[in-house]
Parts: sequence; C-alpha cells; structure tokens
Amino acid sequence: MRRREFLTITSVGGAALVSRAALPLNAKLVREEKTMAYTAKEYSKLIGMAGFSETLLKNHFTLYQGYVTNTNKVLDALAALLKEAKTATPEFAELKRRLGWEFDGMRLHEYYFENLGGKAALDVNGKLGKKIVESFGTYEAWEKDFKAVGAMRGIGWAVLYQDTADGRLINFWVNEHDVGHPAGCPPILIMDVFEHAFMIDYGLKRADYIEAFFKNIDWKAAEARLK
Ligand SMILES: [Fe+2]
Repeated sequence: MRRREFLTITSVGGAALVSRAALPLNAKLVREEKTMAYTAKEYSKLIGMAGFSETLLKNHFTLYQGYVTNTNKVLDALAALLKEAKTATPEFAELKRRLGWEFDGMRLHEYYFENLGGKAALDVNGKLGKKIVESFGTYEAWEKDFKAVGAMRGIGWAVLYQDTADGRLINFWVNEHDVGHPAGCPPILIMDVFEHAFMIDYGLKRADYIEAFFKNIDWKAAEARLK
C-alpha cells in the first residue's frame, strides 16, 4: 500500500515523525493521512531493443511518466476532497472514476516494459510453458489466440491472465486501460496495442509490431508472475 498512516507527535518545539513504539505515554497524538507519491520507473535499458526505435521508446516512456504524474494528482485531489468533506460531489465521483484509468495506465505500462527486453525463447518445458500447454492445448494455439487479441480493432491491451481460482491461463482484451480485467487475477504477459506503442515505427502495420514484440518477450519475467 502506498498510502500510509503516519503518527505525528506534538511536543514543545514542534512536531516530529516517530514510530508507534517510541511514543511517550502522555503524548498527544495527531493522525494524519499522507499520500506517498508513486515514482516513475526507469526503463531506458530497453533502448536498442530490435524492432523498437529509440524515438518510439522515449515517447512511450514519456507517456508512461504522465500516467504516474496523473495518478498522483488524482489521489491527492481525492484526499483533499475527503478531508474537506466534499465526497458527495460530482468532482469526487468523476475523480474516482478517473482513478482506475490513470492507475491502470501506470501499472500496465510497468508490466509491459518489464516483460520486454528478453532474448531467449519460452522454455516450453518450464513452469509457464507447461501451464500454457495445459490451458490451450499447444503453445502455438496460445500464441495464435494472443496475437488475435492484440490485432483486434480498438485501443487497449492484450493480456495473458492467470485465473488463480483454478490456475488456468486466459487471454483477455482490455479496452483502453480499465475495462475488461478479470477480478483478482494476476497478469502474466502484457502487450500494449495502443497506437502510440507502434505507429512511429510501423504505421498501421500492427501485425508487424506484434511480431517485434514477440521477439523481445522476457519470458522469465512473465514466468515469475505465475502463482
Ligand atoms: Fe502505452
């Protein structure tokens, strides 16, 4: 959790942050909700990846940083409205609706960049390889389905999710950033198919971008997400 509750102790000479264990018995406690801001992660190691120009990647990193900034802004604005008892307002409702879009825009890009930069093919006898075969019959059937999801018209994400209720893997289409996520399921492999993810390098040839994506999957990173 990024939002943490801090205990502040008011004493002669001002306030200081202290741990719960260190509080004197007679201390006057003041609880404060403090928002811990998200920080954009660094993915410049991906520059030089085959099939992705530096211009495209740098633009994409900048877009991602915008989602981090806006997630922080929305959380701060919501915290302020709560503090001012303005929760029964259109502003509060609209910001709450917006939060899922900004937050998912941030987090999905992190999953995406973190499952790129790989060089080795999937080990079909490894944990993830076996799970894919178990869920789809063959690796080829899974790949065909995942690519078909990525090629769907519209802007969004192709996501291989694991249903932790029974362990199976399912490919999902996520519209924009926030519509279509299966509840409670961890994403295993994420592919961005917003136009900004490929148009600079591939124009309208989304299929060529998908091929380039597949050549750069970090399968170890994907496998590590399995439950
Ligand atoms: Fe993106």
